Amino acid sequence: MGYDAKFRVWRGDTDGGDLQDYTVLVNDGEVVLDIIHRLQATQAPDLAVRWNCKAGKCGSCSAEVNGRPKLLCMTRMSTFTEDEVITVTPMRTFPVIRDLVTDVSFNYEKAREIQSFTPPDGLKAGEYRMKQVDVQRSQEFRKCIECFLCQDTCHVVRDHEENKQNFAGPRFLMRVAELDMHPLDVAERRDSAQSEHGLGLCNITKCCTDVCPENIKITDNALIPMKERVVDRHYDPLVWLGNKLFRR
Ligand code: F3S
Repeated sequence: MGYDAKFRVWRGDTDGGDLQDYTVLVNDGEVVLDIIHRLQATQAPDLAVRWNCKAGKCGSCSAEVNGRPKLLCMTRMSTFTEDEVITVTPMRTFPVIRDLVTDVSFNYEKAREIQSFTPPDGLKAGEYRMKQVDVQRSQEFRKCIECFLCQDTCHVVRDHEENKQNFAGPRFLMRVAELDMHPLDVAERRDSAQSEHGLGLCNITKCCTDVCPENIKITDNALIPMKERVVDRHYDPLVWLGNKLFRR
């Protein structure tokens, strides 16, 4: 059985905007993105929303539902009561382009700042060998769909534009950690995690982990182990000496 839901959707562009009220039909089994599409089809044909797969795998339809970073396609209408007003707004951490679409190029800039996988000199294609345990350790991080909900929710940049220059955000600190765990990667990752990518600004609030639609344990499995390795490098005398002798 369908019902009429009350929606408040942010409409506007780079010059500003406002929440607008709509009443929209909801059918059984629908998700928030279905309702946004029905809004476009019936009442607001110029409503801008970014989406692609509608299956929680492309990471395009990131926005905020009742103030929580969400994928619109994975947010079921059945999680709300029928009389609830549902507010849909663009991700707050990134500049708005129009309506629900934000400019996420901050993330691509941060991705480019990370040195790519660096195998030892002379290692030829076909000579890469890894133990299964090393594959499994970073497998979880490869599930990332780059929806940037973790980047959106992290308080280090969410309310602090001034931190953006010095902080890569959880998605890309996780990438640094993944590369640092790779047994064939010889690039220096630990000092640069701290000095270039802002690992020290993360104070382990775990908000990034809470909003990850792939349930990646970003904080526990990537950021905290990375912090521990950085600390070891600087404060554990044996590790310090080993790094001096066999630096990698
Ligand atoms: Fe931000 Fe996640 Fe750290 S939300 S403060 S990167 S634990």
